[in-house]
Amino acid sequence: MSDAQTVPSAFFNPTATGRSELKSSVDAVIASLAGIGEGPRTPLLPAELRSLVTAIEVCPDDGVAFHEVAKTFGEVVWANGVIPTDSACCAHLHPPTLLASVATDVAVSATNQSMDSWDQSPVATEVELHLCDFLAKQLGFSGTGSGVMTSGGTASNVLGLTLARAKAAHAIGVDVGAHGLPLEAKTWRILSSDQAHFSVQRAAAQLGLGRRAVESVPTLRDGTMDLDALDACLDRLHKEGLVPIALIGTAGTTDLGAIDPLRGIAMRAKAVGAWFHIDAAVAGSFIMSDTLAGALDGISLADSVTIDFHKLWWQPMNASALMVGDVACFDLLRVASKYLDRGDEMDGMVNLVGRSLDTSRRFDAAKVVASLRSLGRKQFAQYLDQVLHLATFAAKELSHRPGWKVITQPSAAMVVFTEATATADELRRVQQQLLARGEMVLGRTEIKGEPCLKFTFMNPLVDEASVIRLVDLVVDELHAVRTAS
Ligand SMILES: Cc1ncc(COP(=O)(O)O)c(C=O)c1O
Repeated sequence: MSDAQTVPSAFFNPTATGRSELKSSVDAVIASLAGIGEGPRTPLLPAELRSLVTAIEVCPDDGVAFHEVAKTFGEVVWANGVIPTDSACCAHLHPPTLLASVATDVAVSATNQSMDSWDQSPVATEVELHLCDFLAKQLGFSGTGSGVMTSGGTASNVLGLTLARAKAAHAIGVDVGAHGLPLEAKTWRILSSDQAHFSVQRAAAQLGLGRRAVESVPTLRDGTMDLDALDACLDRLHKEGLVPIALIGTAGTTDLGAIDPLRGIAMRAKAVGAWFHIDAAVAGSFIMSDTLAGALDGISLADSVTIDFHKLWWQPMNASALMVGDVACFDLLRVASKYLDRGDEMDGMVNLVGRSLDTSRRFDAAKVVASLRSLGRKQFAQYLDQVLHLATFAAKELSHRPGWKVITQPSAAMVVFTEATATADELRRVQQQLLARGEMVLGRTEIKGEPCLKFTFMNPLVDEASVIRLVDLVVDELHAVRTAS
């Protein structure tokens, strides 16, 4: 055999030889994961990590054998990350990933379908449309409902609000895409709760409305939007000659997991002629559970809904979708192009670029469909029940510790808590010291001015004993902080 035949080719090739080369490359990657240790994260800090990483020459003149590269990555990169499966990795909505998704992602990268045009992703386009149809049915949309995958909840919220802005302009005879903002845009307002995700503010900024266009509606103690306050806000806007172009309901706020009264918001959006967007990045997966879906009552009335698969659907990043009640609304954003979305394709060929703010885009629907099919609805719903149980269990444990309290009872995977006399600085030190020692990746936030800590339980396989250990660690750390000062 000549040398040329023994050296693996640089490109993936779907032949028997190519598949066998891929297998040995993936085997090298899997072997490199063996260096991942115990605990939620490495105890190394930025300077130490930086010097390890900068020692890796990015593109040497002569390439390095891949098994060597994989080994180095194992020692430097994979061994020093956070470990979302670990019970003490409990700060964010950052999930462990379903095995079926991880494995399917290998084929997604290897086959590299590009979701912008049908001629680059014939069957992949059909898979994404199929997933969108499935979600549209789950959401209770009529036959016109569909959607598009995006890179995350932020991108989905931006797309939803871009549609809202286009619709508001269209209603006064303006094509905002072609001509930019009309003078009336100065009066346009977006209403969301004071617990809504900051991506709403970023969307308003990007859309040229400015963050001042976002009206923050007060919430009740449990973090849900106060409908009386919403009514008062709408009355005030009317008197001031301001126009609500979008009402946003959050289905699962980032900290408290609070689900706004979606039906009530929908009725008000309809009454004032505003777009109704739901940010269901956190609790959107409740549509998959017979017991939890009721909490999303009114979701079927939305014009657009953000679904974030890389949260409580346990998908590797990136995976999100912007679902719409009427697929025709995407036409408001469409820009034809001579080479891609030409508008004269053969019957039935959908170019998804016509729905998306991205052009080239990864085939993210594959892993979602493969893993949901492999897991099944019952198991999926059980996992949701279990993360909710862990949050509720932690809330109960915390309430048994003298001085500790939860802000509100959990309604998703999170529990937000504090100690009656703890200062913001003490809580900061608790969170930072646990992080620096690599013992816990703990959440820290503020609810209506009150500094708090937060557990987010994304791994349904964590047991109650681990939750008790986490509570003990936090309680002991606050004690240590106070003793040290
Ligand atoms: C309610 C809510 N919306 C949107 C986002 C943003 O999602 P992503 O991080 O996928 O952009 C988050 C992130 O936590 C969120 O909690």
